[in-house]
Amino acid sequence: MRLFSLGGRLALCASMVRPGAALADVGTDHAYLPVWLAKRGAVRHAVASDVRPGPLERAKRNIERWRVGDVVETRLSDGLDGIGPGEADDIVIAGMGGLMMAEIVRRTPWLKNGEKRLILQPMTRAVDLRRSLAEEGFAILREDAAQEEGRYYTAMLCAYDPARSSGNALYPYVGRLTAETPEGRACLRRVTGRLRAREAGLLHDGEQEKALELSRVRQQIESMIAWQEQKG
Ligand SMILES: C[S@@+](CC[C@H](N)C(=O)[O-])C[C@H]1O[C@@H](n2cnc3c(N)ncnc32)[C@H](O)[C@@H]1O
Repeated sequence: MRLFSLGGRLALCASMVRPGAALADVGTDHAYLPVWLAKRGAVRHAVASDVRPGPLERAKRNIERWRVGDVVETRLSDGLDGIGPGEADDIVIAGMGGLMMAEIVRRTPWLKNGEKRLILQPMTRAVDLRRSLAEEGFAILREDAAQEEGRYYTAMLCAYDPARSSGNALYPYVGRLTAETPEGRACLRRVTGRLRAREAGLLHDGEQEKALELSRVRQQIESMIAWQEQKG
């Protein structure tokens, strides 16, 4: 049976998992990511976890179907509550809201170990997630964007490193995204669009100072995009 392809979003997450890692995929649902990595011999072990039994049943069916039960096990767990520090080097949390991810990271003290890697792919609230990561001492080592079915997604590779965890005013909005790829530029344009809308709201409420702060951030992002487009 030919191995299925991961979509652009999960393929980006997979590219951030270290070869031979012990993986935890939190909120695994169908378990496509751990199954795909196990099938390619790219992980030595994986815990595919979910907070709900229904998705975990889907995960079990796919693990059986693709015969990777010797590498991938399932676990009913809220966030990382049911997974121990010795079980995972690389932890993927993909396809959830950024606030939920921030909460899962915040309440898992064993992630504060520079050897661990977190791969986070938020569907919403990436700005709040980056702020929370910085507050908790996590640095973003790499961040990239991917396209899937006409939508754009970002994924960030993070590690505990308090000395490198915070940045300038731009950081929560951009993280380590660059304008070098069309996908990166599309994500950055989405950020400038949102900032523009918030600026208008703040001006409407008479909050000139805050609106000005956001407009400075927006203009810096617009310059990043324009500079890259000029470069060609
Ligand atoms: C949209 S699916 C994402 C599936 C897969 N990770 C992906 O990116 O394609 C979100 C999954 O996260 C699970 N989930 C939500 N909150 C969770 C939590 N606190 N702990 C573990 N799993 C959670 C849901 O049950 C659901 O199966």
